[in-house]
Amino acid sequence: VTQALLVSTKPATMAVWREELLALDPTLDIRLFPETGPVEDIAAAVTWNHPPEDLYRYPNLRLLISMGAGVDHLFRPPGPPPGVAVVRLVDRLLTTAMSEYVMLAVLRHHRQDAGYRALQAAGVWEELPAPDTEATRIGIMGLGNLGADAARKLAALDFRVAGWSRTARALPGIETFAGEKGLLPFLARTDILVCLLPLTPATEGIINARTLAALPRGAYVINAARGGHVVEDDLLAALESGHVAGATLDVFRTEPLPEGHRFWTHPKVILTPHAASITIPRSVAPQVVDNLARLREGRPLANVVDVTVGY
Ligand SMILES: NC(=O)c1ccc[n+]([C@@H]2O[C@H](COP(=O)([O-])OP(=O)(O)OC[C@H]3O[C@@H](n4cnc5c(N)ncnc54)[C@H](OP(=O)(O)O)[C@@H]3O)[C@@H](O)[C@H]2O)c1
Repeated sequence: VTQALLVSTKPATMAVWREELLALDPTLDIRLFPETGPVEDIAAAVTWNHPPEDLYRYPNLRLLISMGAGVDHLFRPPGPPPGVAVVRLVDRLLTTAMSEYVMLAVLRHHRQDAGYRALQAAGVWEELPAPDTEATRIGIMGLGNLGADAARKLAALDFRVAGWSRTARALPGIETFAGEKGLLPFLARTDILVCLLPLTPATEGIINARTLAALPRGAYVINAARGGHVVEDDLLAALESGHVAGATLDVFRTEPLPEGHRFWTHPKVILTPHAASITIPRSVAPQVVDNLARLREGRPLANVVDVTVGY
C-alpha cells in the first residue's frame, strides 16, 4: 500500500518542508496540497492552518502532525477525524526563541525602555525610578515546554516567578498554582502576566475583564500564545483605565491584524506579527521523520496530543 505524506501550508514553505524531509528520508512519498494524488494514498499529514474538513477526505489517514507547537488549528470544527492520532512539535529552537521573546518584553517593560526612548526623543537627560527585580512578580500562564523554559530563565534573572497550569506542577524556584481555584491567587500576585497557554475551549478568552481586574493595578500583559486567549475589548478598556499599564502582543483574534485595529497605534501596546517563535523546517524535520517511522513500525508516537483536552 502507498503511504504518502500530505504537506499543507503556504506554498513557498511547503517546498522547503519537502526538501528537508527528503534530505533525511529520500524514500518518503510527499504530496504538496492540493496535489494530493488519489486520496487513498495519504497515511499522514503535516499541516498548518489547513481546512480541518478536508482531512475527512483521506480514508487511510492515521496521523496528523502540527507544523507548530500549537494544535488549535487542527481542533477548529469539525476537528481531527476520529481515530486519527495527533502530534505536535517540541523543538529546542522554538522554545529558545519564545523565551527570548518573553524576556525581551519583560526587560523592555521592567527597564522602562519606552520612557527612556521618549526622554531621548525629547533630548532630556533624566533618570527614572530604579526598578527592583527581586520585588517584581512575573506570572506565567501555562507551564509546558514553553512556559517552563521562560519561567526558569526569568527566575535566573532574579525575578520572582510563579506559574499556573491545569494540573499541579513542581518547578525548582518557581511558585506554582493550578486549576480554576489557583487562578485568582496567581493573578493577585502577578505584576507581569505572560500567557503561554494552548488555545482550548477551557482557555478561550481567559484574559478578560474579570481576570485583568484580579491583577494588581499597573500590571503588564504579554501574550505570545494565541489571539483567542484575549478578549480584546476588555484589554483595551483595562489599558484605557490605567489598570493595565501596557501590553506586548504577538497574536490576535484576526491575523493579519486588520488595518485600523486599535492595537496598531495604541501608545501602550507593542505588537509583533505572530513572530515570537517561528518553526524552522530543518530543525523539526528529524522529529517528523521519526514519528513517520514510528507510525510505519507501530511504535508509540512522540509528542502526542490528548485529543480529549485539545492540547
Ligand atoms: N506566538 C508564537 O509564535 C507561538 C509559537 C509556539 C507556540 N505558541 C503557543 O504556545 C502554546 C504553548 O506551547 P507549549 O509547547 O508550551 O504547550 P504545552 O507543552 O502543551 O503546555 C501547555 C501548558 O498549559 C497548561 N494548560 C493547558 N490548559 C490549561 C487550563 N485549562 N488551565 C490552566 N493551564 C492549562 C498545561 O497544563 P498541564 O501542565 O497541567 O498540562 C501546560 O502547562 C501553544 O499551544 C501555542 O498556542 C505560540
